[in-house]
Amino acid sequence: MAVTPSPSLSAIAAAKGIRFGSAVAGWGGGSWRNAKLAGLLARECSILVAENEMKWQAIRPSPDTFDFAAFDGIAAFAAQNRMKLRGHTLLWHRPKWMPRWMESHDFGSQPATAAAAMMANHVETVCARYKDRIVSYDVVNETVLPEDGSLAETALSKAMGGTEALVDLAFRTARKAAPCVELVYNDYMSWEPGNALHRKGVLRLLEGFRKRGTPVDALGIQSHLIAPAPDAAHQREWQRFMDDVVAMDYRILITEFDVRDRDLPVDIASRDQTVASTTRAYFDMMLSYPQLRDVLAWGMVDAYSWLQGYEPRADRAEARGCLYDSAFQPKPVHAALARAFSEATPRG
Ligand code: XIL
Repeated sequence: MAVTPSPSLSAIAAAKGIRFGSAVAGWGGGSWRNAKLAGLLARECSILVAENEMKWQAIRPSPDTFDFAAFDGIAAFAAQNRMKLRGHTLLWHRPKWMPRWMESHDFGSQPATAAAAMMANHVETVCARYKDRIVSYDVVNETVLPEDGSLAETALSKAMGGTEALVDLAFRTARKAAPCVELVYNDYMSWEPGNALHRKGVLRLLEGFRKRGTPVDALGIQSHLIAPAPDAAHQREWQRFMDDVVAMDYRILITEFDVRDRDLPVDIASRDQTVASTTRAYFDMMLSYPQLRDVLAWGMVDAYSWLQGYEPRADRAEARGCLYDSAFQPKPVHAALARAFSEATPRG
């Protein structure tokens, strides 16, 4: 059995009115089927999110069909362990992350109507199936382009005649289909240098939602951090972004926390310390916002982290961006997060 420190992260967070949880996969080492990982998740987490199993690529094998088998396994595991569930995501609005059939899909002679029907039907079908078993949805994921802050286009948005119309429809349909569920716009703009245009685009999108009355409750901040933390000037810029977001009356979630250590020297002790100090600096700032009430890690154990494949180190050493190492031992970053939670001001 994996050793998990006591009290658990979710217990420490809960004492401050915060939920802590993680992404989990449907199959393989990073899944709930791995008994060792399942035990760790059950002890540490009060909320789960499917790493891939609710995405269009997973549940829409063809234009006319849905396949919920893999996600249902995760939902059942969460229920058995009395964990809440987030839905990720009703629309990952990038061509690369749409199902392949979408690229050549024939939207017919009235493409805008057909695209709107497809979007609405997708949201309605998922929401109807899970009702209030899902407490919060990333309705839309990553539709702002980091290069210039403009909105991404996909076959669906082109058929619809614009990204704004598509995104608004997704949120409006979700509100109707799941009136009591938190609706989130989720994206990866972050505090490192080079994110200014991305942040600006996200602010513009959030302003637009408020102007048009689009029902969006919260901003999901993915938080795939890069260690070490940026300098004080960049941290202040980030704080200004956060201030602007909460001034528009959005709640905040940290939806996909992990730390990218690719640029750090390979020595494990020093790498782990830098990952921990980056985390502490970030959470001290983020937890100062009472609007932040949910913190989810994008996986708990290094061996199963998407970072191993997405961003391998040049020296091929294992990435160490999760709270637990591959032997299921908690790392300094775990203690740093626990301390940040325990020193946070209680949410009202
Ligand atoms: C990633 C998964 O972790 C990978 O397994 C998959 O191959 C690609 O997607 N932002 C998101 C997540 O919103 O859905 C991504 O998850 C990581 C980046």
